[in-house]
Amino acid sequence: MELNNKDLFCTKAYVGGEWIGSDNTFNVLNPYDQTVLAQVPDLGRKETVLAIDAAQKAFKEWSHTTSRERANLLRKYADLILEHQQDLARILTCEQGKPIRESLGEIKYGAAFLQWFSEEAPRIYGDIIPSSKEDHRIFVLKQPVGVVAAITPWNFPNAMITRKIAPALAAGCTVVIKPAQDTPISALALAKLAELAGFPKGVLNVITAESPVEIGEELTTNPKIRKLSFTGSTAVGKLLMRQCAGTVKKISLELGGNAPFIVFDDADLPSAVDGAIASKYRNAGQTCICTNRLFVQETVYDDFVTLLKERVSSLAMGSGLVEESNIGPLINAQAVRKVDQLVDSAVQQGAEVVLGGEPSHDLFYKPTIISNVTSTMEITKNEIFGPVMPVIKFGQEQEVIEMANSTNYGLAAYFYGRDISRIWRVAEALDFGIVGVNTGLVSAVEAPFGGIKESGFGKEGSKYGIDDYVNIKYVCVDVNSNI
Ligand code: SIN
Repeated sequence: MELNNKDLFCTKAYVGGEWIGSDNTFNVLNPYDQTVLAQVPDLGRKETVLAIDAAQKAFKEWSHTTSRERANLLRKYADLILEHQQDLARILTCEQGKPIRESLGEIKYGAAFLQWFSEEAPRIYGDIIPSSKEDHRIFVLKQPVGVVAAITPWNFPNAMITRKIAPALAAGCTVVIKPAQDTPISALALAKLAELAGFPKGVLNVITAESPVEIGEELTTNPKIRKLSFTGSTAVGKLLMRQCAGTVKKISLELGGNAPFIVFDDADLPSAVDGAIASKYRNAGQTCICTNRLFVQETVYDDFVTLLKERVSSLAMGSGLVEESNIGPLINAQAVRKVDQLVDSAVQQGAEVVLGGEPSHDLFYKPTIISNVTSTMEITKNEIFGPVMPVIKFGQEQEVIEMANSTNYGLAAYFYGRDISRIWRVAEALDFGIVGVNTGLVSAVEAPFGGIKESGFGKEGSKYGIDDYVNIKYVCVDVNSNI
């Protein structure tokens, strides 16, 4: 791979400030052409324990650094990431497949979490509470929770790591990261830049493995880990939550979604089409907040679908490294099969293919629109995680709110319309942690990202993002005691 700084292409894990290899390795593939990009260490429980111990040792000093010291390091780290953004984006596209423009966007988004939390670090304020007893004074302190385990996904191999480590490091925690097996190279490049920025040994550790099971078990059962932050599927989130119960860890979970996108009859249709495309086809439909069900009011249904088809037809599939590509490959063959099965099953139950509707070549799936979809079809209940837009017709506002909310998930929802009273009514009625109104792009470092229901709990980014990494301690002082 052509990089300006070849040192960023690391193929060893990073534990206690050392780069460690292993006789056991696994292949990291480029999803575009299935070539082997690298072989990285296939580690297990033993190395995970080493990483946890290193993080715990480092915590003793790191948790006592001043917030200004931590802020300065985080800022330096962000600057280094931005300085190397072209290389980091290239690594990301090669191991994940997304178009290079999106990768660059992700690197900047990722660095912005470090900038944001560098600014939050000095503002982790406590409190003084007026006491009901004359002699008592009540103080509230916020202290770092301890060693954090961050288990991160392949769809955003850079930003989902920084979104977790930035608040953790800002709060004074140390971290053990287990990146997804499909995309470990971006994580190791981040570790290299953390080393260059000057984080002390053991503050940040990256463990790689082909199977997440053994490492996941250790991270969720080892009593030295005091918090788990996980982004991934709801099924795995539930398992990790059960495993964490034994040592009662603090947890935040950013899990699956089933986002509705509603187009009301007073919407600006071209803008709504733009929003739907941005929300659905970004990263080839592989984001947790991707539109999963598009509801269009019957009076504008035909016009909207015609406009949508026109625009989606012009999306170009291709190598992420080619500037003009809009849609890259899916992450692996299993992902392509799953998307295809959902489309086939919807078509068997009466849905109509407006565009695409089948795999293309290698790991590509054609940008797809299917209409005449009903809420009983599997495709409206499962997270599609591919470039497929199922369109459902609706009549009245109340009916669409009920359909939109009729899911166990509660991450993101979107709607387009102009009536101001309906905007407030619908925004309040949707049971989701994030609601986009007249926009299909809602991710921002300053906003609290996170779901409700089976989409998880805990907020990432924003002023709330630090809360999950601190313990609140209440100190009561009797000012009249003469001990
Ligand atoms: C995701 O978690 O898949 C979405 C990431 C983002 O847009 O912040």
